[in-house]
Amino acid sequence: MKTNIAIFASGNGSNAEEIIKYFKNHDYVKVALILSNNPDAYVLKRAENHKIPHYVFDRQQLYKTKIVDEILRLNGIDFIVLAGFMWLVPERLVKAFHNRMINIHPALLPKHGGKGMYGDRVHKAVVENKEKESGITIHWVNEKYDEGDIIFQAKCKVSPSDTPADVAAKVHKLEYENYPKIIEKVITENQ
Ligand code: GRF
Repeated sequence: MKTNIAIFASGNGSNAEEIIKYFKNHDYVKVALILSNNPDAYVLKRAENHKIPHYVFDRQQLYKTKIVDEILRLNGIDFIVLAGFMWLVPERLVKAFHNRMINIHPALLPKHGGKGMYGDRVHKAVVENKEKESGITIHWVNEKYDEGDIIFQAKCKVSPSDTPADVAAKVHKLEYENYPKIIEKVITENQ
């Protein structure tokens, strides 16, 4: 039996793309569903290109109904991967997917995390703080932004001349190299 993954993403979805490619023809993991809160997210186009079922939900549906839970159930989802998903996951889903939901954050948590710290804002904060290094953090999801137990971190150097865009490029490279592999490892270890 394959482990079916659902990816939640709000925007571009370049991480989702890497994950989809990594698990194409995989023995026991399948990207079975893409979910987004943003009808204009490019990740939906990617899902379409790869012929992966995809749905959009709004705030009311996520927080006040069980439509998303039902979509996950109907698609046989065993594991949730957040990849650039901007909203807080409701507690009932965190509980339902306890130890089966992970997120990636584009910095070295606990630094530069929490509500409002996403995308370029994170890299800007890293540059403004004159950090010597940044990186990625892959962690379990709990009820708070970026506070679940850390599974994996990888670092990159930040030089004084780096712009936020330079840092973003280094961090994205680390994300693409590591997120699919860590997803595979976590699923393998928890099977
Ligand atoms: C990534 O940097 C990820 O770490 C963060 O949001 C960004 C999403 O980028 N949570 P993309 O949509 O995967 O291109």
